[in-house]
Amino acid sequence: MIIEPRTRGFICLTSHPTGCEQNVINQIEYIKSKGKIDGAKKVLVIGASTGFGLASRITSAFGSDAATIGVFFDKPATEGRPGSPGYYNTAAFEKHAHQAGLYAKSINGDAFSNEIKEEVVNLIKEDLGQVDLVIYSLASPVRKHPNTGKRFKSVLKPIGEVFTNKTVDFHTGKVSEISINPAEGEDVENTVTVMGGEDWKMWMDALSKENLLAEGATTVAYSYIGPEVTKPVYRNGTIGAAKDHLEATAFTIAEDLKAINGNAYVSVNKALVTQASSAIPVIPLYISLLFKIMKENGTHEGCIEQIQRLYSERLFGGDLDLDEKGRIRIDDLEMKEEVQAAIAELWKDATSENLAEIGDLKGYSDEFFNLFGFKVDGVDYDADVNEMVQIPSIK
Ligand code: NAI
Ligand code: NA
Repeated sequence: MIIEPRTRGFICLTSHPTGCEQNVINQIEYIKSKGKIDGAKKVLVIGASTGFGLASRITSAFGSDAATIGVFFDKPATEGRPGSPGYYNTAAFEKHAHQAGLYAKSINGDAFSNEIKEEVVNLIKEDLGQVDLVIYSLASPVRKHPNTGKRFKSVLKPIGEVFTNKTVDFHTGKVSEISINPAEGEDVENTVTVMGGEDWKMWMDALSKENLLAEGATTVAYSYIGPEVTKPVYRNGTIGAAKDHLEATAFTIAEDLKAINGNAYVSVNKALVTQASSAIPVIPLYISLLFKIMKENGTHEGCIEQIQRLYSERLFGGDLDLDEKGRIRIDDLEMKEEVQAAIAELWKDATSENLAEIGDLKGYSDEFFNLFGFKVDGVDYDADVNEMVQIPSIK
């Protein structure tokens, strides 16, 4: 079939298998071009099909020749209806990993559930014995709690007072003011339940109970801090409370892992266009200004550049360079004072009329479509494609 982008609000309803494969190939080529990383050899990535998780899986496999198991929640295609991008990304990843002689298997299902944890435990037992790196990169708006069956929803709201600021609809370029009402009821607790560290710890407990963590095993989860302008809705908001919890959980897990000389870290990453970040008001405007400045400075990075640097310089480079709260910071280039000062200036002036010029609106929009395999260089979108692409390890 011929597949075109069909958008509704912050989501794109279709995705393109050839474009997704090309994205994966580009990331693989980037990692190969940067040379080998003396890193982990048996890696579990939870949230492995898009964004930072996919980049982590690719970096492990093609940077360190690692065997990888990837867990994610994606939709396969049905006749005439494309699958989700993560499904096509993983199909492409496995294909190229297998061609390179690398072990790669995937599990598609709810990572929050006991069943999927058990499936992964069994797969590690059968195939790898143990793992030496666990990347935790889930981004989800909901979580069904495995003990109670209760469904929790995360929200993106400020805490305490209404937050009013500028935002942009990146499809139209229209800059407008948005007001977001503060969290109420159990919004904060619910968001912490979904995006905090409880599930990360459950994963680590499940693995360690079965002795599946190798001596010296490391686990890393991803967090975000960001600038002053987004603070009320991000870091000081409901999602920030969840990130505080995630970051605190790193210390609890690190204690548990002492028995095997292992460790647990949070890495604070740069703001990037992903499915998760496109849904947060105010952030797209910030990102479009950030990209403009960082591209001008020559310091712009995408997911793969970020994770390549995380692995080669910090995790396996001998210098974690932790901040005062014990976190790895690969948002260092984003958070540079000059960069933030330049954005703060542009922020005041940004309007629908000038944003295309003072911000990287086109870059934002292109990257958004890239997530779904569209507008990828070198892909012939007029060509007939088979939407029924399968992930080799999933029957
Ligand atoms: P993403 O939306 O690209 O990827 C999320 C992954 O989680 C996908 O593989 C998806 O299939 C999987 N997933 C979601 N729900 C699942 C479930 N119930 N069971 C199994 N798999 C599930 O997200 P992104 O942006 O890569 O985020 C990953 C982490 O990085 C998050 O913790 C996020 O807060 C953090 N981060 C994101 C930044 C950004 O700008 N996008 C910046 C800094 C950190
Ligand atoms: Na991810």
